[in-house]
Amino acid sequence: MSLYSVLRPILFRLDPERAHELAFTAMRAGLAKGGGCVTHPYEAFGLTFPNRLGLAAGFDKNAEGLHIWRRFGFGFAEIGTVTRHAQPGNPRPRMFRLPESEALINRLGFNNEGADAIRSRLEQRPSDLIVGLNIGKSKITELDEAPEDYAYSFRHLSPLADYVTVNVSSPNTPGLRSLQDREPLTRILWRLREINGTIPLFVKIAPDLEDAAVEDVAQLVDELDLTGIVATNTTISRSVLPTDPQIEGGLSGRPLAARASDVLRLLRATLPKERHVISVGGIHNEEEARARIAAGASLIQVYTGWVYGGPDFPARIAHAVTTEVAAG
Ligand SMILES: Cc1cc2nc3c(=O)[nH]c(=O)nc-3n(C[C@H](O)[C@H](O)[C@H](O)COP(=O)(O)O)c2cc1C
Repeated sequence: MSLYSVLRPILFRLDPERAHELAFTAMRAGLAKGGGCVTHPYEAFGLTFPNRLGLAAGFDKNAEGLHIWRRFGFGFAEIGTVTRHAQPGNPRPRMFRLPESEALINRLGFNNEGADAIRSRLEQRPSDLIVGLNIGKSKITELDEAPEDYAYSFRHLSPLADYVTVNVSSPNTPGLRSLQDREPLTRILWRLREINGTIPLFVKIAPDLEDAAVEDVAQLVDELDLTGIVATNTTISRSVLPTDPQIEGGLSGRPLAARASDVLRLLRATLPKERHVISVGGIHNEEEARARIAAGASLIQVYTGWVYGGPDFPARIAHAVTTEVAAG
C-alpha cells in the first residue's frame, strides 16, 4: 500500500482548496515526494522539452513551484492564469470534488497575485524546466479593453517565459469566453504580436465550443501564424456526468476525456502539420496519455488526474509518452 493511499482519505476530508494549499506547501517544503525527474527530450517549436508532460494552468497560479515540477516528473509547467491586476477570485467554497467521477468543479475566478508580483518569481526560474505563461483578463477590465489588459501581462512577463498561452476559455470570468470569437480574438492576438513577434504563442479554448467554432479558431490561429492551440479548458456541460451535482463552475477530470480527445482530433484534421496542439482534459492514465500523442498532440498536460492519481502520477505519465511511442 502506498503512503498516498493512506493519506488520500485524510486529504479528501479537507476542503479541496485547503487540501490543495496544504499539499502544495508540503511539496515545496520537500515533505511530499514525487516520482522523480523524467528525461525523454522532445523538440517542438524551437524548444527542447525534457519530456512531453506539462502541469496544466491553474495549479501553480503564482509561479511558486518552479523549482519542484521537474522532481515530480513534469517536463514543463504552464503558470497562471496571471492577470494584469492582482485579484482575490470568487468567494469560497469554490472548488469541489466528485470522487466517483474522478472529477473536480471549480469556480476560482482567476485568483492570483497579478503580473507585477509574479515577475520576481519568474526572474528566478530554473533553467531545466520549460515554462509556459498563461495570461487572462482581469475581472475589473471591460471586455472592450481586454487587448491592453492581456498586453500588460504579456509585455512584463513574456520575456521570462518560453511560450505564452492566451486564455479566453475560463467559464469563471463573466464574458471571457466571448473573446474566442474571431473579431475580439484577432484584436488581442494582433496586439500581442506587435509587442513580441517571435515568442511561441498559443490560444486555449473551451471544450464547449461547437465543432464549427473550433474550426474557426484553428483557421484564425493559422492565418495569424500562431504556434498552436491548448485544448481544452474545463466544461460547463454536465451531460458527461451520471447526475447533475448542481454546482456552478468548470468541470475537469475523467468525464472531460472524450470531448477533449474529439477536439484534439478535429484540430488535427483542420490545422496544418506545423501548428501544434497541447492536449489537456481528462488524462487519467497512461493509456489515455498515449492515445492523445497517437492522435497528434505534440504535448500533453494534466491537473485533475494528478489529484486522484497520487504523487507519482506525473512521472508515470511522462514515462508513458516517450518520443519512441510517438514515432511508433
Ligand atoms: C482547480 C482548477 C483551476 C484551474 N485554473 C485554471 C486557470 O487558471 N487557467 C487555465 O487556463 N486553466 C485552468 N484550469 C483548467 C486546467 O488547466 C485544464 O485545462 C482542465 O482542468 C482540464 O484538464 P484536467 O482534466 O487534467 O484537469 C483549472 C483547473 C482546475 C481543476
